[in-house]
Amino acid sequence: MKTLLSVRNLKKSYGDIKALKGISFDVYEKEVLCFLGPNGAGKSTTINILSSILTKDEGEITYEGQSFEKNLSTYKASLGIVPQDLAIYEEISALNNVKFYASLYGLKGEALEAAALNALDNVGLLSVKHRKPKTFSGGMKRRLNIACGVAHQPKVIIFDEPTVGIDPQSRHYILNYIKALKDQGVTVIYTSHYMEEVEDISTRILIIDHGEILTEGTKEDLKKMLGDTDKFTIDIEANGSVNTQPFYRIDGVKGVEVSDNRLMFDVVRGVDCLDKIIAEMIDQHIKLSNLNKEKATLERVFLHLTGHALRG
Ligand SMILES: Nc1ncnc2c1ncn2[C@@H]1O[C@H](COP(=O)(O)OP(=O)(O)OP(=O)(O)O)[C@@H](O)[C@H]1O
Ligand SMILES: [Mg+2]
Repeated sequence: MKTLLSVRNLKKSYGDIKALKGISFDVYEKEVLCFLGPNGAGKSTTINILSSILTKDEGEITYEGQSFEKNLSTYKASLGIVPQDLAIYEEISALNNVKFYASLYGLKGEALEAAALNALDNVGLLSVKHRKPKTFSGGMKRRLNIACGVAHQPKVIIFDEPTVGIDPQSRHYILNYIKALKDQGVTVIYTSHYMEEVEDISTRILIIDHGEILTEGTKEDLKKMLGDTDKFTIDIEANGSVNTQPFYRIDGVKGVEVSDNRLMFDVVRGVDCLDKIIAEMIDQHIKLSNLNKEKATLERVFLHLTGHALRG
């Protein structure tokens, strides 16, 4: 794996607020690297420094082994930025918006037109290319914002929360487009606080909170932090006479707890023992009213790492 970007000990404060407390990470070629973190974690601050919109206080950034500041023009030419705040012009057509941004990267004439049309097609806006964004839905504006950032076909694309508050159709277009970019070998840096989409598109995840990177790895790596068991919760009608001992004899059952008309089982992931648990409940005349399996999710990983939920 080739390292494209390397960030070391990056710090940024806004007055007294320490937004980044010295983070370090690498970005490898052709990966979809997702920053997962709640509001205020420091995602946009990191992205804006990488986009050279914001200056860092301390730390080192290299792009292809060269100092980021010294090679800013080369770096910027290979970069596409899709900012969290919309950067589109409401009063000019969608096509002209995209052409304007792509022209900043030196595209001209027919090549410019073709690149803009291609970008609009990729986000599902080709049929409305002559319309002005002021007539667009929020999701369509988000998609246009993406087309503007990517039309010049950069090698690295940075997306800052491109799917916040949008309709399912637009979300679908955006996530599919990111998967297509991954297939084309484009390097993607993506921030989100939606764990489902991070699970869906990432090849690697950095979990960030309060200006610090708490951990990094593939979704499989991160879920391993939760141990090798799944949790089942079974609501029951009465708990007066539950004998937990027989449950421990079932292959795969690691733990049983009884509380408030509820049985909680810790079972080895991948071992199918639910049938036997239910058979034992029937033997003991325990009536089941509800069953819930807690899956190993990134939400649980986040909770495990921080003690608080990803969503406020
Ligand atoms: N221009 C600014 N002036 C003062 N404080 C700021 C500024 N920008 C960000 N902050 C603060 O820095 C911290 C990190 O903010 P940042 O925008 O990087 O978080 P984020 O992870 O992008 O959050 P969100 O999910 O809400 O976009 C927060 O405490 C935020 O309030
Ligand atoms: Mg942000």
